[in-house]
Amino acid sequence: MEPATFDLLLGPEGQHVLREATEAYGRVDDLVLGTRLRAAGHPPDLVAAAIGQVALRRRAASKMGADAASMYFTPDALEQATRTPVAAHRAARLQALGPRTLVDLGCGIGADLTAFARAGLHVHGVELDPVRAAMARQNLAALDLSGTVEVADATAVDTSAYDVAFVDPARRSGRGRTFDPQAFTPPWPFVEALLEQNGVAKVLPGLAHDLVPEGVEAEWVSERGDLVEACLWGRPFAGASRRASVLSATGTATLTDEDLPEDVPVGEPAEWWYEPDDAVVRAGLVAAVASLTGGRLVDPHIAYVSSATHVATPFARPFRVLDELPYREKQLRAALRERDVGTLTIKKRGVSVVPEVLVKRLRLTGSATATVILTRVQGEGRAFLVDPVTASS
Ligand SMILES: C[S@@+](CC[C@H](N)C(=O)[O-])C[C@H]1O[C@@H](n2cnc3c(N)ncnc32)[C@H](O)[C@@H]1O
Repeated sequence: MEPATFDLLLGPEGQHVLREATEAYGRVDDLVLGTRLRAAGHPPDLVAAAIGQVALRRRAASKMGADAASMYFTPDALEQATRTPVAAHRAARLQALGPRTLVDLGCGIGADLTAFARAGLHVHGVELDPVRAAMARQNLAALDLSGTVEVADATAVDTSAYDVAFVDPARRSGRGRTFDPQAFTPPWPFVEALLEQNGVAKVLPGLAHDLVPEGVEAEWVSERGDLVEACLWGRPFAGASRRASVLSATGTATLTDEDLPEDVPVGEPAEWWYEPDDAVVRAGLVAAVASLTGGRLVDPHIAYVSSATHVATPFARPFRVLDELPYREKQLRAALRERDVGTLTIKKRGVSVVPEVLVKRLRLTGSATATVILTRVQGEGRAFLVDPVTASS
C-alpha cells in the first residue's frame, strides 16, 4: 500500500468505506463489493485497501485477539508481528524490572510497541517503512495508548536517552526460519552491540547457544504449544543464562538453568514418558523436567524423560506406557496388526525414521488407534506403545 492510500483510508471517506467493507464481510463477495464501492465513486485503490484491511483484521484475530478488529496491517507486517500473549509476556517481564522509557528499533506495525505501551512504558517506535510507521502510530491510537513513532533508520538513532532499546530484526525474505544472523536487518552486529548495553532482542528460536553473548539471558518462548521465539535480555535485564517460558491459557510457567539438577540420572524407561515442551528442549532444560517429575533421561542425548510417577506439569506432555513393541519394522507391523491398529501416530526422537513414510509402509488396516514412541534408549532403538494423557483424561 502507498502511504497516500493509507492516509486516504484514515480520512472520513476511507473510514466510511472501511465500515462498509467490515459490515459486508462474509455476506457479500469481495468482487461484488468492490464493484459496488467503486460505482459509488470511491477511488479503486482506496476500495482495494479497505477490503484488504478487513481480510487482514480477520486473519490477525488468531494472533492479536480482539485488538485486531481496530488495528491496521500489511500482509508481511502481520506475518512478522509478535502474537499478543507473547508480546504481553515480554512487556510484563520488562515492566517488573522497572524501566520507564523504551525505543523499539524497527517497530513494524507495532505489535510489540503497543504491548510495551499497555504495560505502562513510555514508548517511541522507529521504522524504516513509512506505511508501517504510520500504521504503528495509528495502532497505538486505536488501542487508546500513547507513544510516538518516527520514520528513520534504526542504526542511526541515538538510544542513550532510553532505558531500554528493543529490537526485533526482520529477516531478509526467502531465508526460511533457520537462524542466519547474516540475514538480519537491522544487522546482527548492531543487535549484539545493543545487548552489551540496555538491549532486548527478539530473535528466531533456532538461535544457536554459542551466539548468545556472555552475560545475556536467552529465553525461549512457546505459546499454546508452538515454539515462537527466543528473546535475548541484555545484561541489565538478565535473570538467568537460559530460560524456557511456556505460555498457555492457564498462565505462564518458567524454568531456568537454576532449576537444573547437579546430576542427571539416566536409566531404563519406566511407566510414564514425558515429551518436554519445545521451549524447554531448545533452552537445554530437559534435565529440569526429569527433576520435576522424579524421573530420568532415557538417553543422555535424547529429549525424553521417563518416570515411575505421573506429575502434571506445563513443561512436558505425559504418555503412559502400555507396552514395549519390537523396533524392527516387520515385527512392529505384526505387533500392531495383532492389536488391530489402523490409525497410528508415530512420535520419534533420535532415530532416523520419517513417521509419515513408516506409517504408509506399515499398511495397517485395523479399527484401533494407537501412538508409538520410537527412540534411542542408551544408544539402542526401542519402540513403546503409549497412551497420550490429555488434561481431561
Ligand atoms: C520483524 S519486524 C518487527 C515486528 C514488530 N516487533 C511487531 O511485533 O509488530 C522488523 C521491522 O524492522 C524494520 N526495519 C528493518 N531494518 C530497519 C532499520 N535499519 N531501521 C528501521 N527499521 C528497520 C522492518 O521494516 C520491519 O518492519
